[in-house]
Amino acid sequence: MMTRTATTVWFDGKLLDDDQLHLHALTHALHYGSSVFEGIRVYPTPRGPAIFRLREHVDRLIAGAQAYGMDIPYDAEALSKAIVDTVRASGRDAAYLRPLVFFGGETVRLNPGRECEVHTLIAVLPFEGLFVGGVAKLSATISPFMKTPSRALPSTVKAGGHYTNSIRALAEAHKRGFDETILRNDRGDVAEGSGENIFVVRDGVLITNDTDADILPGITRASVLALAREAGITTRVRPLTLEDLQLSEEAFFTGTAAEVVPISRVDERIFEEEGPITARLRVAYHDVVRGVRDAPGPWLTQVS
Ligand SMILES: Cc1ncc(COP(=O)(O)O)c(C=O)c1O
Repeated sequence: MMTRTATTVWFDGKLLDDDQLHLHALTHALHYGSSVFEGIRVYPTPRGPAIFRLREHVDRLIAGAQAYGMDIPYDAEALSKAIVDTVRASGRDAAYLRPLVFFGGETVRLNPGRECEVHTLIAVLPFEGLFVGGVAKLSATISPFMKTPSRALPSTVKAGGHYTNSIRALAEAHKRGFDETILRNDRGDVAEGSGENIFVVRDGVLITNDTDADILPGITRASVLALAREAGITTRVRPLTLEDLQLSEEAFFTGTAAEVVPISRVDERIFEEEGPITARLRVAYHDVVRGVRDAPGPWLTQVS
């Protein structure tokens, strides 16, 4: 028997029990992936549960919806309030939030913007972290699958349908015994992991790529760059190559679910120990999201 996670659900303005949500069989997003979503964390902090970088996530969601011609019937303020209210209703202080905006079931034609209702769902599920109790490291492999070029599907948009690319690539990596996959773009440069951005440290300089490499501009990535600059670490944002992965001293992934996680190997290239810059940023990020250390900006929204 597959088990389901107890989830608190807000749908089009109302709180529901998770088994009360009924969608039409022709729900457009189910057939075509015509949805946009976010992954957001709630952390326990000394001042109570707090949502990490809520405004940045909401802004990315709204921008993604606009790119797909979805008129969300809520503005950033109203969406943020709905998210806070749903977290409060869940009673959780460690959670993963999944806001999702999607086209409904009014047509199976490919012009949903004209015919389909736009629905908004917020799901709150219990989540303590991917790697509870200890420092994780991920082995990674270069994927034989290409990252979808932004000329086809804009990488800046976190759209449901875009993730078939990540799903295929990750399954292929798992089949070969790796934890994670690294997709390259159509120029052969490194893009990102299936659900994470990637950083390397080469000659003591922290390097990551940008949206011109067809990446999702991660909110964790932006936070880590800010923390690195605050710590006086030299940073560069430029395209990353396979050679960078071979010749760098350190490499790590960043993402809302994974936080900062060291890469132990990329195919035959082994990174023996977690490097000092990775460790410093991992701990800084860990402490900032949990309100143990001050953030460089107003990054935490207290829930109560
Ligand atoms: C493809 C992809 N890249 C990068 C990220 C990291 O983004 P963030 O740090 O905003 O979670 C994610 C996770 O949402 C992702 O799915």
